[in-house]
Amino acid sequence: MNWVKIFNTSQEAFDRIAEKQPRLLVVHEKRICLVRQGNELAAVSNNCTHNGESLSKGKLNFANEIVCPWHGYQFDLRTGREYQQRSADLETFPIKIEADGVYIAL
Ligand code: FES
Repeated sequence: MNWVKIFNTSQEAFDRIAEKQPRLLVVHEKRICLVRQGNELAAVSNNCTHNGESLSKGKLNFANEIVCPWHGYQFDLRTGREYQQRSADLETFPIKIEADGVYIAL
């Protein structure tokens, strides 16, 4: 597993990633959808496994799933699973918050 620093501090991450507003993050040419919920960050592949729409343009629903803006498929941010399993799981990327920065595993 290759850990890549994406923010210098947790505060920088929380300042730049608004809560429950998905953001596109490109790391080593991978397109990732990054979501903050409180003090936690979650990261999944940005391309919807149904038909490729950018999930960072989507919204979170009441269950904190990311909802694709095109056809409304809903993915669990921890497992990447679509709640009705209508399409393949999203790739998920572990994130760790350390004293010297915030890292994502690719
Ligand atoms: S492209 Fe995402 S639900 Fe169809």
